[in-house]
Amino acid sequence: MEQILALFAIFLAFAFSGKCSDVFSRSDYPEGFVFGAGTSAYQWEGAAAEDGRKPSLWDTLCHSRDQGNGDIACDGYHKYKDDVKLMVDTNLDAFRFSISWSRLIPNGRGPVNQKGLQFYKNLIQELVSHGIEPHVTLYHYDHPQSLEDEYGGWLNHRMIKDFTTYADVCFREFGNHVKLWTTINEANIFSIGGYNDGDTPPGRCSKPSKNCSSGNSSIEPYIVGHNLLLAHASVSRRYKQKYKDKQGGSIGFSLFILGLIPTTSSKDDATATQRAQDFYVGWFLRPLLFGDYPDTMKRTIGSRLPVFSEKESEQVKGSCDFVGVIHYHAASVTNIKSKPSLSGNPDFYSYMGVSFHYFGKSLDFQYANTPWAMEVVLEYIKQSYGNPPVYILESGTPMKQDSQLKQKDIPRVEYLHAYIGGVLKSIRNGSDTRGYFVWSFMDLYELLGGYEVGFGLYTVNFSDPHRKRSPKLSAYWYSDFLKGESAFLDSQGIKELQSKYSSSF
Ligand code: BGC
Repeated sequence: MEQILALFAIFLAFAFSGKCSDVFSRSDYPEGFVFGAGTSAYQWEGAAAEDGRKPSLWDTLCHSRDQGNGDIACDGYHKYKDDVKLMVDTNLDAFRFSISWSRLIPNGRGPVNQKGLQFYKNLIQELVSHGIEPHVTLYHYDHPQSLEDEYGGWLNHRMIKDFTTYADVCFREFGNHVKLWTTINEANIFSIGGYNDGDTPPGRCSKPSKNCSSGNSSIEPYIVGHNLLLAHASVSRRYKQKYKDKQGGSIGFSLFILGLIPTTSSKDDATATQRAQDFYVGWFLRPLLFGDYPDTMKRTIGSRLPVFSEKESEQVKGSCDFVGVIHYHAASVTNIKSKPSLSGNPDFYSYMGVSFHYFGKSLDFQYANTPWAMEVVLEYIKQSYGNPPVYILESGTPMKQDSQLKQKDIPRVEYLHAYIGGVLKSIRNGSDTRGYFVWSFMDLYELLGGYEVGFGLYTVNFSDPHRKRSPKLSAYWYSDFLKGESAFLDSQGIKELQSKYSSSF
C-alpha cells in the first residue's frame, strides 16, 4: 500500500512538472548501459517455408484468421546484411532478435536444420563483426506447430524438456558470441493473450464474446504460466551447469509491465492497483525472485493455480539474472467490488477484479506519452523485488501506417526522448536498469495490428517485393542521440531536427 502511494507520488510529481525537459545525453547513463532496438523472428524474418523451416503456432493462427501473416514480413532472412548496415547507421550498441525454434529444429525436437543453423550463425557473425551485440530471445510466441499438435504445447509438462533441449542447441551453437539471453518473451501476455483472450497465438479461450475453437480461460493461463516458469528454470539451470563458466553470459525472463496508478485516492483503488500488479507481474516475478506465487493470486484462484513443489520452488527462485521489461503505456486502476464466483468459471480479469482506464486510446494503438509510467514501473520493480538488474527489452509507440505521417514520426521522437529521459531519472533514483531497446527497429508484421500499424524506426514498403526500408525522423533522432548529441526537445528542438533532415524525406 505504501509502495503504491510512493508510485502515485511519481505520477503527481511528473504531472505537475509538465514534460520531462531535462537536457541529457548518452554519457549520462552508467558505463556499459546498452542502447538497442529489436525485432522477433516471425515478425521480421519471413521466408516462412524456406530452407526447411516448418510452421509455428503463430503461422497457424495467422493463416486461420484474416489478419495478414509473416510469410514474407520484412524478409529479414534475406536482407539481414542490409539491416545490420542500418543498425550501424543508427549507432546501435545491440540488436534484440529471436530465434525461430521451427527454423532451427523444425519438428520441435530431433535433427537440427543445418540451413536454419547457418542463418543464425551468419546473422550473429554479421552483428559482432560490426560491433553490435546480439541479444537473443529464445521464445517469442512461436514454438513448432508439431509440438502443439502432438501434446498441446505449453499446456503440457513435456514442453519443459523439449524447450531445454532446443535452448541447449542455441547455447552450444551461438553462445560464444551471445552474452544476453532471454528465455521467454512477455510470459504474462503470452499466457493471457493466448489462453485467456484468444487474440494471440495459439488463440485459445472459452470466452463467449470471442471466436476461439477451444480453450478454458479460467484454468489454462495458469497451467501455461507454470510450465513457462519451470521451463525457464530448467534452461537457466542447464546454462549454469554446462555453459556459463565458459561463455559468461546472463539469462533473463521478460514480462509486459504497464505503468499502473490508482484511479482515485481511495484505499480500494490503491489495493486494487497492488492486486493488479500481483496478477500481471507478481504472477511470474514472485516465483522467480522469492519462490512462490503472490498470496492474492493463491487466495483468489484457489486450486486452479498450480502449486510448486519444494524442489520446483527452489529451482525457479533465483533462476533469472535480469528482468526483461516490456513497457509501452499506462493505465489507472479502479477496484471492482464483486468477488468472482468460481462456479461461473471466471477469466483472468474477473479473478483480478479491477478495471483499467488506459491513457490514450490503447485499442486504437494511440498510446499517450506518459514517461512517468516508465519511472513507476522501474520504481515498482526496485521496491517490490529487491532491485534486480533490468533490461527494457521493448518500449516504443505505434502509429498507423499512414504514408504522410510514417516518416515524419514526431510523436515517436517525443515518446522516445521522454521515455529514455525517464529511464535516466529512475537510474538516478537507484534502479539497476542496464539497457533500453526501442521496439521496433523497423516496421514489422505486428502481433495485434498486422501491417496496419508500425512501431519502427525505419519504414518498410510492404508492397515492394524488395521490402525497401527508409529511415523515419525517429531513426535520425536516435542515431544522433547515440552518437552523443544532447537530447533536449521542445518545439524548437523538433523544428531543428526536422530541418536538419528535411532533405532526407
Ligand atoms: C510483443 C511484440 C509486439 C509488440 C507491439 C510486444 O508485446 O513482444 O511482439 O509486436 O508488443 O504490440
